[in-house]
Amino acid sequence: MTKLPFQIKDISLSEFGRKEIDIAENEMPGLISVRKKYGPLKILKGSRIAGCIHMTVQTAVLIETLIELGAQVQWSSSNHLSTQDHAAAAIASKGIAVYAWKGQTKEEFDWCIEQTLYFQDGEPINMIIDEGSDLTSLVIEKHPKILNQLKGITQGSYNGINYLTKLYREKRLKVPTININDSITKSKFDNFYGCGESLVDGIKSATNIIIAGKVITIAGYGNVGKGCAKQLSKLGARILITEIDPINALQASMDGHQVLTMDDAAPISNIFITTTGCPNIISSDHFKLMKNDSILCNLGHLNTEIDINWLNNNSIKKDSIKFDLVDRYTLIKNNNNNNNNNNNNNNNNNNNNNNNNNNNNNNNNNNNNNNNNSNKDYSDNSNKNNNNNDNDDKSYNLIVLSKGNAININGNGGHPSFIMSISFCNHVFSQISLCVENYVLKYSPGIHILQKSFDEEIARLHLNHVGAKLTVLTPVQCNYLAIDKNGTYKPSFYRY
Ligand code: NAI
Repeated sequence: MTKLPFQIKDISLSEFGRKEIDIAENEMPGLISVRKKYGPLKILKGSRIAGCIHMTVQTAVLIETLIELGAQVQWSSSNHLSTQDHAAAAIASKGIAVYAWKGQTKEEFDWCIEQTLYFQDGEPINMIIDEGSDLTSLVIEKHPKILNQLKGITQGSYNGINYLTKLYREKRLKVPTININDSITKSKFDNFYGCGESLVDGIKSATNIIIAGKVITIAGYGNVGKGCAKQLSKLGARILITEIDPINALQASMDGHQVLTMDDAAPISNIFITTTGCPNIISSDHFKLMKNDSILCNLGHLNTEIDINWLNNNSIKKDSIKFDLVDRYTLIKNNNNNNNNNNNNNNNNNNNNNNNNNNNNNNNNNNNNNNNNSNKDYSDNSNKNNNNNDNDDKSYNLIVLSKGNAININGNGGHPSFIMSISFCNHVFSQISLCVENYVLKYSPGIHILQKSFDEEIARLHLNHVGAKLTVLTPVQCNYLAIDKNGTYKPSFYRY
Protein backbone atom coordinates (compact mmCIF):
# COMPACT_ATOMS: atom_id res chain seq x y z
CA MET A 1 0.00 0.00 0.00
CA THR A 2 1.34 3.49 -0.83
CA LYS A 3 2.32 5.54 2.15
CA LEU A 4 0.27 8.70 2.71
CA PRO A 5 2.45 11.84 2.52
CA PHE A 6 0.75 13.11 5.70
CA GLN A 7 -2.46 12.64 7.70
CA ILE A 8 -3.91 15.57 9.62
CA LYS A 9 -7.33 17.04 10.41
CA ASP A 10 -7.66 20.01 8.05
CA ILE A 11 -5.06 21.41 5.67
CA SER A 12 -7.04 24.66 5.32
CA LEU A 13 -5.82 25.58 8.84
CA SER A 14 -2.25 25.95 7.55
CA GLU A 15 -2.29 29.73 7.15
CA PHE A 16 -3.47 30.19 10.75
CA GLY A 17 -0.76 27.74 11.86
CA ARG A 18 1.93 29.58 9.92
CA LYS A 19 1.02 32.91 11.55
CA GLU A 20 1.34 31.37 15.00
CA ILE A 21 4.63 29.69 14.06
CA ASP A 22 5.99 33.08 12.95
CA ILE A 23 5.10 34.61 16.33
CA ALA A 24 6.56 31.62 18.21
CA GLU A 25 9.88 31.90 16.36
CA ASN A 26 10.50 35.29 17.94
CA GLU A 27 10.22 33.70 21.38
CA MET A 28 12.46 30.77 20.45
CA PRO A 29 15.88 32.44 20.17
CA GLY A 30 17.84 29.25 20.87
CA LEU A 31 16.43 27.34 17.95
CA ILE A 32 16.78 30.32 15.63
CA SER A 33 20.46 30.76 16.63
CA VAL A 34 21.07 27.06 15.99
CA ARG A 35 19.55 27.46 12.53
CA LYS A 36 21.87 30.38 11.78
CA LYS A 37 24.98 28.56 13.04
CA TYR A 38 24.41 25.03 11.73
CA GLY A 39 21.91 25.59 8.90
CA PRO A 40 24.52 26.54 6.25
CA LEU A 41 26.64 23.50 7.28
CA LYS A 42 23.66 21.14 6.91
CA ILE A 43 25.11 19.45 9.93
CA LEU A 44 22.31 16.86 10.17
CA LYS A 45 22.53 15.76 6.51
CA GLY A 46 22.01 12.00 6.41
CA SER A 47 19.85 11.97 9.55
CA ARG A 48 16.49 10.32 9.04
CA ILE A 49 14.57 11.29 12.12
CA ALA A 50 11.24 10.02 13.46
CA GLY A 51 9.91 12.37 16.14
CA CYS A 52 7.08 11.76 18.60
CA ILE A 53 6.41 14.92 20.60
CA HIS A 54 3.13 16.84 21.06
CA MET A 55 2.46 18.34 17.60
CA THR A 56 2.17 21.98 18.63
CA VAL A 57 3.21 25.33 17.19
CA GLN A 58 6.49 25.15 19.16
CA THR A 59 7.18 21.63 17.89
CA ALA A 60 6.68 22.97 14.36
CA VAL A 61 9.61 25.34 14.99
CA LEU A 62 11.72 22.35 16.13
CA ILE A 63 10.76 20.29 13.06
CA GLU A 64 11.65 23.13 10.69
CA THR A 65 14.95 23.66 12.53
CA LEU A 66 15.91 19.99 12.08
CA ILE A 67 15.05 20.22 8.39
CA GLU A 68 17.06 23.42 7.98
CA LEU A 69 20.00 21.56 9.53
CA GLY A 70 19.70 19.00 6.71
CA ALA A 71 17.70 16.18 8.37
CA GLN A 72 14.78 14.26 6.85
CA VAL A 73 11.96 14.30 9.41
CA GLN A 74 8.64 12.48 10.00
CA TRP A 75 6.43 13.30 12.97
CA SER A 76 3.61 12.03 15.18
CA SER A 77 2.21 13.37 18.44
CA SER A 78 3.03 11.83 21.81
CA ASN A 79 -0.52 12.29 23.09
CA HIS A 80 -3.87 11.64 21.38
CA LEU A 81 -5.31 14.97 22.55
CA SER A 82 -2.35 17.34 22.33
CA THR A 83 -2.08 18.09 18.61
CA GLN A 84 -2.77 21.65 17.55
CA ASP A 85 -4.40 20.99 14.22
CA HIS A 86 -3.36 24.33 12.73
CA ALA A 87 0.30 23.62 13.56
CA ALA A 88 0.07 20.17 11.97
CA ALA A 89 -1.55 21.75 8.90
CA ALA A 90 1.23 24.32 8.53
CA ILE A 91 3.85 21.54 8.67
CA ALA A 92 1.96 19.30 6.24
CA SER A 93 1.51 22.18 3.79
CA LYS A 94 5.30 22.38 3.50
CA GLY A 95 5.38 18.75 2.37
CA ILE A 96 6.64 17.44 5.72
CA ALA A 97 5.37 14.00 6.73
CA VAL A 98 3.23 14.60 9.80
CA TYR A 99 0.65 12.14 11.12
CA ALA A 100 -1.26 13.80 13.94
CA TRP A 101 -4.62 15.27 14.82
CA LYS A 102 -6.41 16.18 18.03
CA GLY A 103 -8.74 13.53 19.41
CA GLN A 104 -7.26 10.29 18.07
CA THR A 105 -8.49 6.85 19.09
CA LYS A 106 -5.87 4.47 20.52
CA GLU A 107 -5.73 2.69 17.14
CA GLU A 108 -5.27 5.96 15.26
CA PHE A 109 -2.58 7.08 17.71
CA ASP A 110 -0.62 3.83 17.16
CA TRP A 111 -1.16 4.02 13.39
CA CYS A 112 0.26 7.56 13.27
CA ILE A 113 3.46 6.57 15.09
CA GLU A 114 3.87 3.55 12.82
CA GLN A 115 3.73 5.82 9.73
CA THR A 116 6.90 7.59 10.87
CA LEU A 117 9.18 4.51 10.85
CA TYR A 118 9.90 4.33 7.10
CA PHE A 119 10.27 7.19 4.65
CA GLN A 120 8.49 7.43 1.32
CA ASP A 121 11.55 5.89 -0.43
CA GLY A 122 11.30 2.79 1.79
CA GLU A 123 14.36 3.69 3.87
CA PRO A 124 13.98 3.29 7.66
CA ILE A 125 14.70 5.99 10.20
CA ASN A 126 18.15 6.17 11.79
CA MET A 127 17.41 8.60 14.67
CA ILE A 128 14.58 8.93 17.20
CA ILE A 129 13.31 11.97 19.09
CA ASP A 130 10.84 10.82 21.71
CA GLU A 131 8.92 12.15 24.70
CA GLY A 132 7.38 9.12 26.40
CA SER A 133 8.13 5.62 25.18
CA ASP A 134 5.50 5.07 22.48
CA LEU A 135 7.80 5.49 19.48
CA THR A 136 10.87 3.89 21.05
CA SER A 137 8.99 0.86 22.34
CA LEU A 138 7.30 0.37 18.95
CA VAL A 139 10.73 0.18 17.30
CA ILE A 140 12.30 -2.03 19.97
CA GLU A 141 9.40 -4.42 20.49
CA LYS A 142 7.86 -4.61 17.04
CA HIS A 143 10.38 -3.36 14.45
CA PRO A 144 13.75 -4.65 15.70
CA LYS A 145 15.16 -4.59 12.12
CA ILE A 146 15.29 -0.79 12.36
CA LEU A 147 17.73 -1.10 15.27
CA ASN A 148 20.49 -2.18 12.85
CA GLN A 149 20.54 1.32 11.39
CA LEU A 150 19.56 3.31 14.44
CA LYS A 151 22.32 5.69 15.55
CA GLY A 152 20.65 7.10 18.63
CA ILE A 153 17.64 8.20 20.63
CA THR A 154 17.01 11.51 22.39
CA GLN A 155 14.40 11.08 25.11
CA GLY A 156 12.71 14.05 26.74
CA SER A 157 10.44 12.59 29.38
CA TYR A 158 10.87 11.05 32.81
CA ASN A 159 8.58 8.15 31.90
CA GLY A 160 10.48 7.52 28.68
CA ILE A 161 13.73 7.42 30.63
CA ASN A 162 12.20 4.93 33.08
CA TYR A 163 11.34 2.67 30.15
CA LEU A 164 14.85 2.98 28.67
CA THR A 165 16.48 2.34 32.05
CA LYS A 166 14.49 -0.86 32.37
CA LEU A 167 15.59 -1.92 28.87
CA TYR A 168 19.19 -1.10 29.73
CA ARG A 169 19.05 -3.23 32.89
CA GLU A 170 17.64 -6.08 30.80
CA LYS A 171 20.59 -5.54 28.39
CA ARG A 172 18.13 -4.78 25.57
CA LEU A 173 19.16 -1.18 24.89
CA LYS A 174 21.63 -1.47 22.03
CA VAL A 175 21.83 2.18 20.94
CA PRO A 176 23.17 5.29 22.61
CA THR A 177 20.47 7.42 24.17
CA ILE A 178 20.62 10.93 25.54
CA ASN A 179 18.42 11.64 28.52
CA ILE A 180 17.13 15.14 27.84
CA ASN A 181 14.88 15.25 30.88
CA ASP A 182 17.84 15.40 33.22
CA SER A 183 19.75 18.12 31.42
CA ILE A 184 19.75 21.09 33.75
CA THR A 185 18.37 23.30 31.00
CA LYS A 186 15.40 20.95 30.64
CA SER A 187 14.38 19.88 34.13
CA LYS A 188 15.02 23.18 35.89
CA PHE A 189 13.23 25.24 33.23
CA ASP A 190 10.58 23.25 31.34
CA ASN A 191 9.48 21.15 34.33
CA PHE A 192 9.75 23.99 36.83
CA TYR A 193 8.94 27.34 35.17
CA GLY A 194 7.06 25.93 32.18
CA CYS A 195 4.74 23.66 34.15
CA GLY A 196 4.16 26.24 36.87
CA GLU A 197 2.87 28.89 34.45
CA SER A 198 1.08 26.65 31.99
CA LEU A 199 -0.69 24.77 34.80
CA VAL A 200 -2.31 28.00 35.96
CA ASP A 201 -3.32 28.83 32.36
CA GLY A 202 -4.75 25.33 31.93
CA ILE A 203 -6.85 25.41 35.12
CA LYS A 204 -8.12 28.89 34.44
CA SER A 205 -9.05 28.32 30.82
CA ALA A 206 -10.89 25.14 31.81
CA THR A 207 -12.69 26.51 34.88
CA ASN A 208 -12.05 30.25 35.23
CA ILE A 209 -11.71 29.59 38.96
CA ILE A 210 -9.84 31.98 41.24
CA ILE A 211 -6.70 30.49 42.77
CA ALA A 212 -6.39 32.97 45.66
CA GLY A 213 -7.68 31.48 48.91
CA LYS A 214 -7.90 27.92 47.62
CA VAL A 215 -6.36 24.92 49.38
CA ILE A 216 -4.47 23.02 46.70
CA THR A 217 -2.91 19.59 47.06
CA ILE A 218 0.03 18.81 44.83
CA ALA A 219 1.12 15.18 44.66
CA GLY A 220 4.90 15.08 44.13
CA TYR A 221 7.41 17.78 45.02
CA GLY A 222 9.90 17.20 42.21
CA ASN A 223 10.71 19.81 39.59
CA VAL A 224 7.14 19.96 38.29
CA GLY A 225 5.53 19.97 41.73
CA LYS A 226 7.89 22.68 42.98
CA GLY A 227 7.19 24.91 39.97
CA CYS A 228 3.43 24.52 40.43
CA ALA A 229 3.63 25.20 44.17
CA LYS A 230 5.64 28.35 43.53
CA GLN A 231 3.20 29.81 40.99
CA LEU A 232 0.07 28.83 42.92
CA SER A 233 1.48 30.22 46.19
CA LYS A 234 2.20 33.51 44.45
CA LEU A 235 -1.46 33.67 43.47
CA GLY A 236 -2.53 33.22 47.08
CA ALA A 237 -3.29 29.51 47.36
CA ARG A 238 -2.39 27.42 50.40
CA ILE A 239 -0.40 24.40 49.28
CA LEU A 240 -0.45 20.86 50.66
CA ILE A 241 2.09 18.35 49.37
CA THR A 242 2.15 14.56 49.25
CA GLU A 243 5.54 12.90 48.79
CA ILE A 244 7.21 9.51 49.13
CA ASP A 245 10.77 10.81 49.26
CA PRO A 246 11.91 12.25 52.62
CA ILE A 247 14.28 14.72 50.93
CA ASN A 248 11.55 16.23 48.76
CA ALA A 249 9.14 16.14 51.71
CA LEU A 250 11.62 18.07 53.84
CA GLN A 251 12.15 20.61 51.03
CA ALA A 252 8.40 21.11 50.78
CA SER A 253 8.11 21.62 54.54
CA MET A 254 10.94 24.11 54.58
CA ASP A 255 9.39 25.95 51.64
CA GLY A 256 6.43 26.49 53.94
CA HIS A 257 4.03 23.82 52.67
CA GLN A 258 2.27 21.23 54.78
CA VAL A 259 3.22 17.65 53.85
CA LEU A 260 0.58 15.02 54.45
CA THR A 261 -0.96 11.96 52.83
CA MET A 262 -3.66 12.00 50.18
CA ASP A 263 -6.05 10.49 52.72
CA ASP A 264 -5.61 13.53 54.94
CA ALA A 265 -5.53 16.04 52.09
CA ALA A 266 -8.61 14.76 50.25
CA PRO A 267 -11.32 16.22 52.53
CA ILE A 268 -9.72 19.62 52.97
CA SER A 269 -8.58 20.62 49.47
CA ASN A 270 -10.36 22.44 46.68
CA ILE A 271 -7.98 21.52 43.87
CA PHE A 272 -5.78 18.43 43.36
CA ILE A 273 -2.80 18.32 41.00
CA THR A 274 -0.78 15.16 40.35
CA THR A 275 2.84 15.58 39.26
CA THR A 276 4.47 12.27 40.20
CA GLY A 277 4.79 10.18 37.02
CA CYS A 278 3.47 7.33 39.22
CA PRO A 279 0.09 5.60 38.72
CA ASN A 280 -2.85 5.46 41.19
CA ILE A 281 -2.16 8.65 43.11
CA ILE A 282 -5.83 9.64 43.51
CA SER A 283 -8.20 6.71 43.75
CA SER A 284 -11.74 5.88 44.79
CA ASP A 285 -10.91 6.04 48.52
CA HIS A 286 -9.87 9.66 48.03
CA PHE A 287 -12.77 10.63 45.75
CA LYS A 288 -15.13 9.54 48.51
CA LEU A 289 -13.60 12.02 50.93
CA MET A 290 -13.52 15.06 48.67
CA LYS A 291 -15.55 18.24 48.84
CA ASN A 292 -18.29 19.00 46.37
CA ASP A 293 -16.92 20.33 43.07
CA SER A 294 -13.30 19.61 43.93
CA ILE A 295 -11.17 20.07 40.81
CA LEU A 296 -8.75 17.30 39.85
CA CYS A 297 -6.04 17.53 37.24
CA ASN A 298 -2.75 15.98 36.23
CA LEU A 299 0.55 17.23 34.89
CA GLY A 300 2.42 13.91 34.83
CA HIS A 301 3.17 12.28 31.52
CA LEU A 302 0.43 9.65 31.62
CA ASN A 303 -3.27 9.83 32.50
CA THR A 304 -2.91 7.08 35.10
CA GLU A 305 -2.38 9.24 38.19
CA ILE A 306 -6.12 9.86 38.74
CA ASP A 307 -8.42 6.81 38.58
CA ILE A 308 -10.69 8.09 35.82
CA ASN A 309 -11.94 4.57 35.07
CA TRP A 310 -13.44 4.33 38.55
CA LEU A 311 -15.21 7.66 38.07
CA ASN A 312 -16.52 6.59 34.68
CA ASN A 313 -17.83 3.34 36.11
CA ASN A 314 -19.24 4.66 39.37
CA SER A 315 -20.69 8.10 38.76
CA ILE A 316 -24.45 8.48 38.37
CA LYS A 317 -24.00 11.30 35.89
CA LYS A 318 -21.19 12.76 33.82
CA ASP A 319 -21.45 16.14 32.13
CA SER A 320 -18.76 16.82 29.56
CA ILE A 321 -18.82 20.56 29.64
CA LYS A 322 -16.01 21.63 27.37
CA PHE A 323 -15.64 18.48 25.28
CA ASP A 324 -12.21 17.11 26.20
CA LEU A 325 -11.43 19.63 28.87
CA VAL A 326 -13.98 19.47 31.71
CA ASP A 327 -15.90 16.43 32.95
CA ARG A 328 -18.17 16.94 35.94
CA TYR A 329 -18.96 13.63 37.61
CA THR A 330 -21.90 13.26 39.99
CA LEU A 331 -21.40 10.66 42.68
CA ILE A 332 -23.63 9.29 45.40
CA LYS A 333 -22.83 10.80 48.75
CA ASN A 334 -23.18 8.92 51.97
CA ASN A 335 -24.64 10.74 54.97
CA ASN A 336 -21.34 10.51 56.79
CA ASN A 337 -19.41 11.54 53.75
CA ASN A 338 -18.36 14.88 52.42
CA ASN A 339 -20.34 17.40 54.41
CA ASN A 340 -19.51 15.84 57.75
CA ASN A 341 -15.91 15.46 56.81
CA ASN A 342 -15.73 18.97 55.55
CA ASN A 343 -17.06 20.31 58.80
CA ASN A 344 -14.71 18.17 60.81
CA ASN A 345 -11.83 19.15 58.64
CA ASN A 346 -12.56 22.80 58.85
CA ASN A 347 -12.52 22.36 62.60
CA ASN A 348 -9.36 20.34 62.30
CA ASN A 349 -7.69 23.10 60.38
CA ASN A 350 -8.54 25.62 63.02
CA ASN A 351 -7.38 23.34 65.78
CA ASN A 352 -4.22 22.51 63.86
CA ASN A 353 -3.26 26.09 64.03
CA ASN A 354 -3.88 26.20 67.75
CA ASN A 355 -2.29 23.18 69.29
CA ASN A 356 -0.61 19.93 68.53
CA ASN A 357 -2.52 17.82 70.99
CA ASN A 358 -5.72 18.78 69.31
CA ASN A 359 -4.02 17.95 66.08
CA ASN A 360 -3.55 14.36 67.16
CA ASN A 361 -7.12 14.11 68.30
CA ASN A 362 -8.30 15.54 65.08
CA ASN A 363 -6.22 13.08 63.12
CA ASN A 364 -7.94 10.33 65.03
CA ASN A 365 -11.25 11.90 64.15
CA ASN A 366 -10.15 12.01 60.57
CA ASN A 367 -9.14 8.38 60.67
CA ASN A 368 -12.47 7.50 62.18
CA ASN A 369 -14.17 9.32 59.40
CA ASN A 370 -12.03 7.51 56.89
CA ASN A 371 -12.88 4.20 58.46
CA ASN A 372 -16.54 5.07 58.41
CA ASN A 373 -16.21 5.95 54.80
CA SER A 374 -14.44 2.80 53.83
CA ASN A 375 -17.36 0.79 55.23
CA LYS A 376 -19.86 2.50 52.97
CA ASP A 377 -20.71 1.30 49.52
CA TYR A 378 -20.31 4.43 47.46
CA SER A 379 -20.29 2.52 44.24
CA ASP A 380 -23.93 1.60 44.83
CA ASN A 381 -25.72 2.88 41.77
CA SER A 382 -29.21 2.17 43.01
CA ASN A 383 -30.04 5.87 42.83
CA LYS A 384 -29.15 6.03 39.17
CA ASN A 385 -32.50 7.41 38.14
CA ASN A 386 -32.44 10.03 40.78
CA ASN A 387 -31.16 12.99 38.82
CA ASN A 388 -29.28 14.63 41.66
CA ASN A 389 -27.89 18.06 41.41
CA ASP A 390 -24.94 19.39 43.32
CA ASN A 391 -27.02 20.97 46.04
CA ASP A 392 -29.07 18.04 47.19
CA ASP A 393 -27.92 15.95 50.13
CA LYS A 394 -27.58 12.70 48.21
CA SER A 395 -24.91 13.55 45.69
CA TYR A 396 -21.77 15.55 45.12
CA ASN A 397 -19.66 16.45 42.11
CA LEU A 398 -16.04 16.11 41.15
CA ILE A 399 -14.57 18.03 38.23
CA VAL A 400 -11.82 16.34 36.23
CA LEU A 401 -9.83 18.33 33.72
CA SER A 402 -8.58 17.01 30.42
CA LYS A 403 -9.62 13.44 31.24
CA GLY A 404 -6.58 13.13 33.49
CA ASN A 405 -4.14 13.98 30.68
CA ALA A 406 -1.59 16.75 31.21
CA ILE A 407 -3.80 19.82 31.71
CA ASN A 408 -1.12 22.31 30.74
CA ILE A 409 -0.68 20.72 27.33
CA ASN A 410 -4.27 19.83 26.50
CA GLY A 411 -5.88 22.75 28.26
CA ASN A 412 -4.08 25.75 26.95
CA GLY A 413 -1.52 25.05 24.28
CA GLY A 414 1.27 23.72 26.50
CA HIS A 415 4.47 25.39 27.53
CA PRO A 416 5.34 28.87 26.35
CA SER A 417 7.55 29.09 23.26
CA PHE A 418 10.57 30.40 25.18
CA ILE A 419 10.58 27.34 27.48
CA MET A 420 10.21 25.01 24.51
CA SER A 421 13.11 26.71 22.76
CA ILE A 422 15.32 25.75 25.73
CA SER A 423 14.01 22.17 25.87
CA PHE A 424 14.15 21.64 22.12
CA CYS A 425 17.72 22.96 21.90
CA ASN A 426 18.56 19.99 24.11
CA HIS A 427 17.10 17.64 21.51
CA VAL A 428 18.91 19.40 18.65
CA PHE A 429 22.33 19.42 20.34
CA SER A 430 21.82 15.81 21.38
CA GLN A 431 20.88 14.80 17.84
CA ILE A 432 24.00 16.56 16.57
CA SER A 433 26.12 14.84 19.23
CA LEU A 434 24.77 11.40 18.45
CA CYS A 435 24.79 11.40 14.70
CA VAL A 436 27.60 13.64 13.57
CA GLU A 437 30.75 11.58 13.69
CA ASN A 438 33.60 13.05 15.71
CA TYR A 439 31.48 16.01 16.71
CA VAL A 440 31.87 14.97 20.31
CA LEU A 441 33.20 11.90 22.06
CA LYS A 442 31.58 8.78 20.73
CA TYR A 443 28.62 7.66 22.84
CA SER A 444 28.36 3.96 23.68
CA PRO A 445 25.01 2.10 23.85
CA GLY A 446 23.33 3.10 27.09
CA ILE A 447 21.86 6.24 28.63
CA HIS A 448 23.87 9.46 28.70
CA ILE A 449 23.42 13.06 29.76
CA LEU A 450 24.18 15.84 27.30
CA GLN A 451 27.62 17.34 27.92
CA LYS A 452 27.61 20.24 30.37
CA SER A 453 29.22 22.52 27.77
CA PHE A 454 26.08 22.14 25.65
CA ASP A 455 23.85 22.76 28.68
CA GLU A 456 25.72 26.03 29.30
CA GLU A 457 25.62 26.90 25.59
CA ILE A 458 21.84 26.39 25.50
CA ALA A 459 21.36 28.73 28.47
CA ARG A 460 23.72 31.25 26.87
CA LEU A 461 21.66 31.29 23.66
CA HIS A 462 18.64 32.45 25.65
CA LEU A 463 20.21 35.17 27.80
CA ASN A 464 19.98 38.02 25.35
CA HIS A 465 16.24 37.54 24.95
CA VAL A 466 15.70 38.15 28.67
CA GLY A 467 18.10 41.07 28.77
CA ALA A 468 20.72 39.29 30.88
CA LYS A 469 24.39 40.29 30.72
CA LEU A 470 26.94 37.78 31.97
CA THR A 471 29.95 38.67 34.07
CA VAL A 472 33.20 37.44 32.51
CA LEU A 473 35.89 36.00 34.79
CA THR A 474 39.18 37.92 34.93
CA PRO A 475 42.43 35.96 34.35
CA VAL A 476 43.17 36.19 38.09
CA GLN A 477 39.74 34.83 38.94
CA CYS A 478 40.09 32.07 36.34
CA ASN A 479 43.35 31.09 37.90
CA TYR A 480 41.94 31.16 41.42
CA LEU A 481 38.83 29.13 40.58
CA ALA A 482 40.63 26.88 38.04
CA ILE A 483 37.87 27.58 35.51
CA ASP A 484 38.20 28.62 31.89
CA LYS A 485 36.50 31.94 31.24
CA ASN A 486 34.30 30.25 28.61
CA GLY A 487 33.25 27.42 30.95
CA THR A 488 32.36 24.87 31.93
CA TYR A 489 31.60 26.55 35.24
CA LYS A 490 30.31 23.78 37.47
CA PRO A 491 31.17 20.11 38.09
CA SER A 492 28.74 17.55 36.67
CA PHE A 493 27.31 16.79 40.14
CA TYR A 494 26.37 20.43 40.85
CA ARG A 495 22.61 20.57 41.43
CA TYR A 496 21.67 24.20 40.68
P1 NAI B 1 10.63 14.37 39.62
O1 NAI B 1 11.21 13.00 39.70
O2 NAI B 1 11.49 15.55 39.82
O3 NAI B 1 9.39 14.49 40.64
C1 NAI B 1 8.41 13.52 40.86
C2 NAI B 1 8.19 13.49 42.36
O4 NAI B 1 7.06 12.67 42.66
C3 NAI B 1 9.39 12.91 43.12
O5 NAI B 1 9.85 13.80 44.11
C4 NAI B 1 8.84 11.62 43.71
O6 NAI B 1 9.43 11.31 44.97
C5 NAI B 1 7.36 11.93 43.83
N1 NAI B 1 6.50 10.75 43.84
C6 NAI B 1 6.64 9.60 43.13
N2 NAI B 1 5.64 8.75 43.44
C7 NAI B 1 4.87 9.38 44.34
C8 NAI B 1 3.70 9.00 45.05
N3 NAI B 1 3.14 7.80 44.87
N4 NAI B 1 3.14 9.90 45.89
C9 NAI B 1 3.71 11.11 46.11
N5 NAI B 1 4.84 11.51 45.46
C10 NAI B 1 5.40 10.65 44.61
O7 NAI B 1 9.91 14.45 38.19
P2 NAI B 1 9.38 15.78 37.50
O8 NAI B 1 10.42 16.31 36.62
O9 NAI B 1 8.77 16.64 38.53
O10 NAI B 1 8.24 15.17 36.53
C11 NAI B 1 7.06 14.60 37.09
C12 NAI B 1 6.10 14.15 35.98
O11 NAI B 1 5.74 15.28 35.18
C13 NAI B 1 6.68 13.13 35.00
O12 NAI B 1 5.66 12.23 34.63
C14 NAI B 1 7.09 13.95 33.81
O13 NAI B 1 7.13 13.20 32.61
C15 NAI B 1 5.99 14.97 33.80
N6 NAI B 1 6.29 16.20 33.11
C16 NAI B 1 5.23 16.83 32.54
C17 NAI B 1 5.40 18.00 31.88
C18 NAI B 1 4.21 18.67 31.30
O14 NAI B 1 4.38 19.63 30.54
N7 NAI B 1 3.01 18.28 31.64
C19 NAI B 1 6.73 18.61 31.71
C20 NAI B 1 7.78 17.92 32.44
C21 NAI B 1 7.56 16.74 33.09
